[in-house]
Amino acid sequence: MGAIILGTGSCLPEKVLSNHDLEKLVDTSDEWIQSRTGISTRRQSGKGEEAYRLASVAAQRAMEMAGVSAGEIDLIIVATISSHMTMPSCACFVQKELGADRAFAYDINAACAGFLYGLDTVDKYLRSEREKKVLLIGAETLSSRTNWEDRNTCILFGDGAGAVVLEYRDGKQGIVGSNLFSDGSLWNLLYMHSAPSCNPDLVQPDNPGSFMLMEGREVFKHAVKCMEGAILELLARENVSMDSITLMIPHQANIRILNKLVSRLGIEKEKVFINVQKYGNTSAASIPIALDEANRAGKLQPDDLLLVCSFGGGFTWGAALLSW
Ligand code: UT7
Repeated sequence: MGAIILGTGSCLPEKVLSNHDLEKLVDTSDEWIQSRTGISTRRQSGKGEEAYRLASVAAQRAMEMAGVSAGEIDLIIVATISSHMTMPSCACFVQKELGADRAFAYDINAACAGFLYGLDTVDKYLRSEREKKVLLIGAETLSSRTNWEDRNTCILFGDGAGAVVLEYRDGKQGIVGSNLFSDGSLWNLLYMHSAPSCNPDLVQPDNPGSFMLMEGREVFKHAVKCMEGAILELLARENVSMDSITLMIPHQANIRILNKLVSRLGIEKEKVFINVQKYGNTSAASIPIALDEANRAGKLQPDDLLLVCSFGGGFTWGAALLSW
């Protein structure tokens, strides 16, 4: 039918950054952060925990589960907005780390929706290259792209990586469909500048540095509305009822966004996987990390219907449906 996931893996940095740790950096409180976001802790990379290293460990774990060796991988895609270099891509570093010599490798920049965009790309790729195997990874070190003096953002984000190995299969299992969107006209509600320009004509006068800036309330409203729309349209198109969904793994941005989305969709809360309290918002890594946790906890059985959705800077958003 399409691309199926053969194995999942994830990797989180060692260091746990608690809300109490953040109280020492900015004017905030554990109570405020928990009640507004649901987040208690997040992980922060230390030395040797660059995005490509987290990505490589997550990939190794996914390949181990899949029973696939690095030499069998044909394509590596990393969804990221916080690689330690702009060039080469994070994916090329992963290829080197794994010794995946025959793979070609590139990154996707679609912010928090990067992994979803990647799933769609891989599905289409594998439908025409049916003998190939693909490694799809979401990896972020957002701690390197956070203004640690801005309490509006520094409380939200975390570091980590998640990976899946995919191949094409005939039959019922696989990616059933996806529904993706972008709206560049709303870019200025959530964005991050590049490194300062070396060309004086292209210097952005209002570039305060390469970290995230956000209009939280606006992002919140758009996130709920857009993910709801993408999901309802996808289910209608695939003729799938909300009741037949076994598990929903949403992008782990904020517990209030998720609660609102879940109540508008009318899906049972018990079917929604949530780990935002532990890791915060890890952008492109959030869905594959949660997917790996859910998978290893035995929450996914063959033929289960899995719904994933995300929303992020761009804006970029969408939903995908998988038969496990
Ligand atoms: O993947 C998508 C990425 N982005 C997101 O998911 C973010 C979506 N937005 C949000 O999650 C929420 O908007 C936030 C958690 C960022 C903020 O929650 P909010 O309920 O929308 O708060 P607010 O921005 O309306 O601010 C309320 C008050 C303000 O004070 P005043 O103006 O009412 O006096 C803020 O200055 O809370 C203040 N505030 C804080 N107080 C303590 C803002 N940040 C903090 C903080 N600690 N960290």
